[in-house]
Amino acid sequence: MLKAGIAILAACITLFGADEAAPQLDPKYHDSSKCKSCHTRIVGEWSGSYHAMSHYDSNEYLRASMDYVGRKDRRSLNAIKVQCAACHNPRIAVTETGMDYEIQAAVKLDHLSDVNKALESDVLSEGINCLVCHNVDKIHDNLDETKRGVHRISWNPAGVMSGPIEDAKSPYHKVQYRDFFGKDPKRLCFVCHANDRAVGGMVIADTQKEYQETKKQCADCHMSPKKPGVASNLPIADGKPKERMVREHGFIGAHTESMWEGALTLDVALRNKALLVTMKNANPHNIPTGFGARELLVEVSYLSGSKLLKTQSMSLTTHYTDKRGNPTIPHLAETATEELSIPANGERTVKFTPVEGAGTAVVKLYYRLVNDEVRDLLGLKEEIWSKKMFIDKVTYRF
Ligand code: HEC
Ligand code: HEC
Ligand code: HEC
Ligand code: HEC
Ligand code: HEC
Repeated sequence: MLKAGIAILAACITLFGADEAAPQLDPKYHDSSKCKSCHTRIVGEWSGSYHAMSHYDSNEYLRASMDYVGRKDRRSLNAIKVQCAACHNPRIAVTETGMDYEIQAAVKLDHLSDVNKALESDVLSEGINCLVCHNVDKIHDNLDETKRGVHRISWNPAGVMSGPIEDAKSPYHKVQYRDFFGKDPKRLCFVCHANDRAVGGMVIADTQKEYQETKKQCADCHMSPKKPGVASNLPIADGKPKERMVREHGFIGAHTESMWEGALTLDVALRNKALLVTMKNANPHNIPTGFGARELLVEVSYLSGSKLLKTQSMSLTTHYTDKRGNPTIPHLAETATEELSIPANGERTVKFTPVEGAGTAVVKLYYRLVNDEVRDLLGLKEEIWSKKMFIDKVTYRF
């Protein structure tokens, strides 16, 4: 009896440990500008990353998606913003909204509410900044796998920075070593890069599930391998900055064209009069991974001498449908077409019927951040969403 009581109490403590809204930030640690003087390189690298773009005002695709979900799901935009903030903007001071808020919003009496105040806070404008990752105290991996982002962590008190260095000392803030920075940083990544779901519950992205254990950390490919440098440029070791093994903070990925070259490799063969195009993925997660409606494009140009006879193309992407069976965006999906990503450490082959009389076929593979369907539904204008990013090319001679 007593044992059961203790177990329940322990469960309650861990439950209450997570799901807490972020505590108020001391003005001393308000945003990355407060870290810049001593962590100049890191702040510069991070500010160019898409983690820094994870806010309604900074990312056209994110903004259009939130607007669309609000419109179609008949909830206030602010309720959607709070829901998405769990991973996109976890420093938010409220983590849930209910019917009472919808009623207030409908009669326009929400302007003084905690929800509006939380969303208007300038603490959020930097998206996933230093004070998101480095203020995580604990990750509650014992929780249900649907609890993500802010619902899966608990926070440090203001002014304590968690990090990978066991003997760090800073005159500006307290420090504490955490394994999810030092020994195994992918645990931190999986707080958000896992079990991303549509509002009706369908999983639309799950890098953790796809991931195949390797010696490489996410950080090796998306930050940099560890290399000699300084964690802080403040002179703390005999009048000089202290040398450390560090990583870059660029979090480079799918929005950076140069990251795509060679991310997959192509193999082309002719069998039973069909042109077989095989895409190989040597990475430890599927490609595309992450957010739904990403797209791989295969283009085959048939030539006779130097004359172009015909171009065929194929799109590998997921299409989503809503409750009524109409095309929709990932977050409103009830059903989806077959998953066509290239599996981790695996391959996928697609078939083309060659054009009569062709001497060569030039096969090119590209990536696009948003497929045509979702781009049209959302009316995305910026060039980056339709840009074809080059991955690989092979010329086949018949
Ligand atoms: C998405 C999470 C994330 C964000 C955002 C982030 N960091 Fe880090 N940071 C990490 C991880 C992970 C490591 C540890 C990498 C390792 O050693 O394997 C790290 C390491 C560090 C270190 C130790 C030196 C090093 O390179 O290992 C410092 C100092 C640091 N970060 C400061 C910052 C500052 C300042 C910002 C804001 C500009 C920031 N970080 C933003 C995840 C993050
Ligand atoms: C006055 C200078 C100064 C300022 C401002 C400053 N730091 Fe630091 N920080 C340091 C020093 C010095 C270290 C220790 C470096 C070492 O030991 O190599 C450090 C270490 C760290 C570490 C590594 C901790 C660990 O145990 O691995 C993190 C993370 C960090 N700072 C984050 C931040 C963030 C976020 C801000 C802005 C809110 C910030 N710092 C502002 C000087 C500063
Ligand atoms: C607090 C939640 C959270 C954590 C923790 C987190 N991420 Fe992210 N990450 C996101 C979100 C949200 C985006 C999309 C931001 C956007 O595009 O507006 C993203 C985007 C990315 C991208 C895509 C960038 C691009 O340009 O395409 C990469 C790569 C990435 N994260 C790597 C990491 C790695 C590595 C870690 C662990 C060290 C990590 N993330 C930790 C939430 C998180
Ligand atoms: C061996 C290198 C490697 C490792 C390790 C790795 N990735 Fe990737 N990742 C890639 C490549 C290559 C791409 C495709 C090109 C790009 O976006 O950088 C990619 C793409 C991504 C994207 C962008 C997907 C999109 O279409 O928006 C995210 C997010 C991401 N990885 C997260 C992670 C996370 C989280 C981990 C750790 C669990 C991880 N990666 C481990 C190589 C790696
Ligand atoms: C479980 C955590 C989580 C939640 C909750 C979440 N997201 Fe995301 N979202 C991510 C991660 C991680 C990425 C980056 C993956 C990648 O690069 O492919 C991302 C990427 C995106 C992107 C692509 C951005 C870009 O720059 O390409 C959009 C759009 C988006 N999310 C919209 C939303 C909306 C709208 C909501 C709320 C209804 C939401 N997300 C809730 C984790 C989450």
